[in-house]
Amino acid sequence: MIASRNTRRALLALLLSFFAAASFAQRQPAKTYEPEVGQAGKDVVWVPTSNALVNKMLDMAKVTPTDHVIDLGSGDGRTVIAAAKRGARAHGIEYNPDMVELSKRAAAKEGVSEKATFAKADLFESDFSQATVITMFLLPDINIKLRPKILSLKPGTRIVSNSFTMGEWTADQTETVSEGCTSYCTAYLWIVPAKVEGTWKLPQGELTLKQTFQTLTGTLNTGGGSARISNAKMNGDRIVFTVGGAQYTGQVKGTTIEGTVKSSDGTRNWSAIRAGGAA
Ligand SMILES: C[S@@+](CC[C@H](N)C(=O)[O-])C[C@H]1O[C@@H](n2cnc3c(N)ncnc32)[C@H](O)[C@@H]1O
Repeated sequence: MIASRNTRRALLALLLSFFAAASFAQRQPAKTYEPEVGQAGKDVVWVPTSNALVNKMLDMAKVTPTDHVIDLGSGDGRTVIAAAKRGARAHGIEYNPDMVELSKRAAAKEGVSEKATFAKADLFESDFSQATVITMFLLPDINIKLRPKILSLKPGTRIVSNSFTMGEWTADQTETVSEGCTSYCTAYLWIVPAKVEGTWKLPQGELTLKQTFQTLTGTLNTGGGSARISNAKMNGDRIVFTVGGAQYTGQVKGTTIEGTVKSSDGTRNWSAIRAGGAA
């Protein structure tokens, strides 16, 4: 009898201490996730871009409220949130689910949840074709792997990368920040060029273009002979080249180019229609 009373007392004490512990745990705020710089990621570790370089990258891309910015591997969401604060629609693709939740909380805190969204996804399996601006801080080999997909984006799409280049596709602009940044302080900008390689018919002859990313070489054949083009370049869907002392500028719209040509005779319009070659 004594033993069973003692057992009951012990059981009661055990139960009381269990409920006390449970109620204490309930009163404690849930421990918030704290990411660690250098923590493993699926293909790249997490190292945040300094806020100074984030701003420089968005400046280089000339982000406006009409843009749709996508950060590939968005980490703690800082680039997406900064773009949303500029009024752009911004989206982060991040493999680590804790970082995604952390980013959503940060966006809510900054009051930009409507414009800054995040998805837990693998950037290699994600569709980012709707972006007008891509930001990234990945690795050189990942940039190269993504390059064909990036080059197939709409001409004029701006790509900004923290620190890592795109192989032989040279950047259109490079900027380094010194204030507010101690490591990984250089950003590169590329503008996706329209694909113009091939032959184009002009009223006065034929323009043949060879294209290496944004750089062009080629010839203009007219009744008067053949002349090499120079200073030839794409800037998104804008083409520029010089031939025979005349400077051609134009906009590529699918299978046509329309623009103006400036020479010592003045300025006149020109146009061309694709006659052959890769579209
Ligand atoms: C160097 S951090 C850059 C973070 C952020 N973009 C910034 O600039 O502050 C790279 C991020 O990519 C994420 N990541 C790595 N591999 C990924 C993958 N395959 N798909 C999506 N995210 C990935 C990592 O978890 C990490 O947060």
